[in-house]
Amino acid sequence: MKTLYISDIENRIGEEVELFGWVYRQREHGGVVFVVLRDSTGIVQISIHKNNVNPDSFNNAQKVTIESSVRVKGKVIEDSRAPTGLEIRCSEFEILSLSEKFPIQEGAGKEFLLDVRHLALRSIRLTEIMKIKELIIQGARKYLQKNDWHEVFPPIITSAACEGGTTLFSIDYYGREAYLSQSAQLYLETAIYSLEKVYSLTPSFRAEKSKTRRHLSEYQHLELEAAWMDADDIMKVEEELVAAMCREVSEYKNLEKFGRKKEEMILNLPLERIKYDEAIQIIQSKGIDIEWGDDFGYEEEKVLTNEFEEPFFVYNYPMEAKVFYMKQNPDGKTYACADLLAPKGFGEIIGGSQREDDLKALERRMEIEGIDKSRYKWYLDLRRYGSVVHSGFGLGIERLLMWICNLEHIRDACLYPRTITRLEP
Ligand code: 4AD
Ligand code: MG
Repeated sequence: MKTLYISDIENRIGEEVELFGWVYRQREHGGVVFVVLRDSTGIVQISIHKNNVNPDSFNNAQKVTIESSVRVKGKVIEDSRAPTGLEIRCSEFEILSLSEKFPIQEGAGKEFLLDVRHLALRSIRLTEIMKIKELIIQGARKYLQKNDWHEVFPPIITSAACEGGTTLFSIDYYGREAYLSQSAQLYLETAIYSLEKVYSLTPSFRAEKSKTRRHLSEYQHLELEAAWMDADDIMKVEEELVAAMCREVSEYKNLEKFGRKKEEMILNLPLERIKYDEAIQIIQSKGIDIEWGDDFGYEEEKVLTNEFEEPFFVYNYPMEAKVFYMKQNPDGKTYACADLLAPKGFGEIIGGSQREDDLKALERRMEIEGIDKSRYKWYLDLRRYGSVVHSGFGLGIERLLMWICNLEHIRDACLYPRTITRLEP
């Protein structure tokens, strides 16, 4: 078993160490072979001097190919010429598995890199993005645990739509039609009557028929639902949660590689809140043709969010732009809902609302929208047996990661992006 990682060696200067990893770079210069070794924690330069090693080791270092797996022994020394300021003066170099010619070369095209995603995942950039993804989830879990939210595990195979029929993936369920979950929300709502404050982190599925830079067919969805909270209360939870997730990333050592500063990851709460009406005015003032009642598409969100430096809320959307389960405001036109948008063109990361807790109002809304109530009998039951003010939201992990890492495309926020044209590898 491997016990020492590349990141550990900064504490081992002057000592003889043994490392296992993969060859990231290799070149020979004046009787010395330089290999850059890679593992999950980083890279380090290994220098293999002809006179310091036995002929086998030198021969191995000379013939080793990129991405071969190797075992290296040597002394850790400080050397400012090495990429990380440290170098291993090699005493033994063993090839564990000699790699065939690695298909990924410098300057490879985007589509090709997706075709060989199983190999492209070894890139330092993708490795770091995956670590940051892990950090934001850790930040969320710490916050949720500290504030007494219960984790639950809702089903992925479902019988009814949560977010409308157009983006449903249907599956054959023993001869009946079932769907992959678009959102755990309706099930989370059932769980608040026992656990009060619940959350789940599950994949959600959307058959997004248009190709965009921020839509996946499968994404990681962090959803919270709480009894006794109204629209305003849940916005506070949203901003605290996102702040906790960002704070966890703020200490990440290579953040600047993504064009982010530590300070940007410390959010100033409360976040700004603007009404939908105001947002419409801003968008219209930029010359975009949008009417009151429309939801924002990519272009609208882009111009709107370019006006902001930090994530911000847009609240009280028109009913026709949103979904039947939201609590209707007394104006009869808008819902008590809010989206959290990331600044500078990134757009929506959270969709949330207070939920309609009145049976009659909910049924009326479903009738207006032409929704088959018989499919939601169990959901309507919640309004019959001890209905309660409650609210919740869903956060797209890859959307948040996209903003944090300044990603141009959401595909790099996941191991294997599932999009309209891509199912493999
Ligand atoms: O706004 P959405 O559709 O809201 C819901 O699903 C609610 N039922 C959630 C809830 O209240 N429990 O989706 C929530 C978030 C969006 O804000 C976005 O971040 C992300 O999920 N999202 C997607 N991320 C990647 N690819 C897609 N196709 C996404 N669709 C939504
Ligand atoms: Mg939404």
